[in-house]
Amino acid sequence: MVSDLEKAVRADLQALIKEKNCHGIMVRVAWHDAGTYSKEDGTGGANGTQRFAPESGHGANAGLDIARNMCEDIKAKHPEISYADLYQLASVVAIEDAGGPVIPFRMGRKDADAPQCTPDGRLPDADKRMPHLRDIFYRMGFNDAEIVALSGAHTLGAAHKDRSGFDGPWTSNPNTFDNSYFKEIMKETPESGLLHLPSDKALLDEPECKALVETYASDQAKFFEDYAKAHQKLSELGAVWA
Ligand code: HEM
Repeated sequence: MVSDLEKAVRADLQALIKEKNCHGIMVRVAWHDAGTYSKEDGTGGANGTQRFAPESGHGANAGLDIARNMCEDIKAKHPEISYADLYQLASVVAIEDAGGPVIPFRMGRKDADAPQCTPDGRLPDADKRMPHLRDIFYRMGFNDAEIVALSGAHTLGAAHKDRSGFDGPWTSNPNTFDNSYFKEIMKETPESGLLHLPSDKALLDEPECKALVETYASDQAKFFEDYAKAHQKLSELGAVWA
């Protein structure tokens, strides 16, 4: 049962995302909140600490103040929703609005306080390859197949020189959630104006990951099915439920 609060916040988020065309950054803000999780000690996760210093100032979070600030009007209108829920809901609404899969969503994450900010270095480095991606994603509790599926979120949005040092979108339709990311990264060199991060190309380094890239490139329904499961898991990492 979807609560009245969830319905109202979804409607406001959808209007905002449509107006600003900010699908990509809404997905990134939620991923960087949840992706700090460590299954080893239970720290980090989808708990809203990304809005506090020092986490807000970590290099990986550069530019995400834009997404958090856009969420503030909605938080002011619906103070009962936690920041942790708001960021995760913004991401699933953005993906649905962009034509992606419906991601099962559970409300009720509690916000943590500033002392629960995680140390820098929990999020992946785009200059690195598979051993690093495994270190980072295994720590969150994901496997290789989930790394490939989740990387498909780069179908949305773009990199920005002043945020990460990289530049440009991964696909020619960055506000549409589809399987075009996988088609693009299989190309030897990026099409003019498009981006391949070293960490995107890393997915082709291991035969099993490469096979999955090829599957997703030819079977969008399979990508959507696997993506929705992995994304729901991501959105609940470390969550403490009210
Ligand atoms: C953007 C790295 C995984 C969603 C970016 C950017 C980098 C990056 C460098 C550009 C940021 C900027 O300059 O604005 C990585 C690395 C990953 C990874 C190294 C490891 C596999 C993910 C995952 C998701 C995701 C798992 C979501 C499930 C996004 C989105 C954007 C983005 C949607 C576009 C943001 C925008 O349009 O402003 N990522 N990412 N990424 N990332 Fe990732």
